[in-house]
Amino acid sequence: MSFQIAIDGPAGAGKSTVAKRVAAELGFIYVDTGAMYRAMGLYFLDNGVDTDDEAAVNASLDGAEVTLEIVDGNQVVFLNGKDVNGRIRTEEAGMMASKTSAYAENRKKLVAMQQKIAASQNVVMDGRDIGTVVLPDAPLKIYLTASTRTRAERRYKELLEKGQEADLAAIEKDIEQRDYQDMHREHSPLRRADDAVLVDSSDLNIDEVVQKIVTYAKEKM
Ligand code: C5P
Repeated sequence: MSFQIAIDGPAGAGKSTVAKRVAAELGFIYVDTGAMYRAMGLYFLDNGVDTDDEAAVNASLDGAEVTLEIVDGNQVVFLNGKDVNGRIRTEEAGMMASKTSAYAENRKKLVAMQQKIAASQNVVMDGRDIGTVVLPDAPLKIYLTASTRTRAERRYKELLEKGQEADLAAIEKDIEQRDYQDMHREHSPLRRADDAVLVDSSDLNIDEVVQKIVTYAKEKM
């Protein structure tokens, strides 16, 4: 039987950093489901799919093959055989992912892949609906959040460190818009599962959050 840790929460709460570290400490595989929605977002962009038109999005889905590979312990995402790991990190890909992840058929395709990955190996999986929809029976569920300002500042620093241009006010606005879209959509809106542990990382550093989650996991394993 595999063991699953589901980590959900809003954009920029530190989910991927934390999930990656927790997975490394426990020897689990880390699965970043947001990267899969981002890769689909890129597919729609690259192919000029009108993403206001749900039927057009649905009709295009079969042309996109998203696959994950673990290279040197890190997840690499491929879209139709091409490595898109760098391209999925732009704000444009994030907004496109948020918009098109509202469509049920797009979600269905990716959720099936995610469930298959988690069925056969120990995983730390992060996203928006992991504890509520993808892995409702996961033995450990975490809802990781932080204030909007804290999250915007973190993403701002991340972009600057990568040498990219960044505008703090614009990032905060994007985060608010993305949260609103993710929490108010009809299908699988972002919400804390009833049995998820709430962790607010506003006043905790990464080590503290990681240790908290590893401790919970060891209690349950
Ligand atoms: O986590 P990340 O910011 O990379 O996710 C990009 C977008 O993908 C989110 O804003 C959300 O709309 C969508 N997403 C989702 N369900 C998931 C993971 C991500 O709807 N499990």
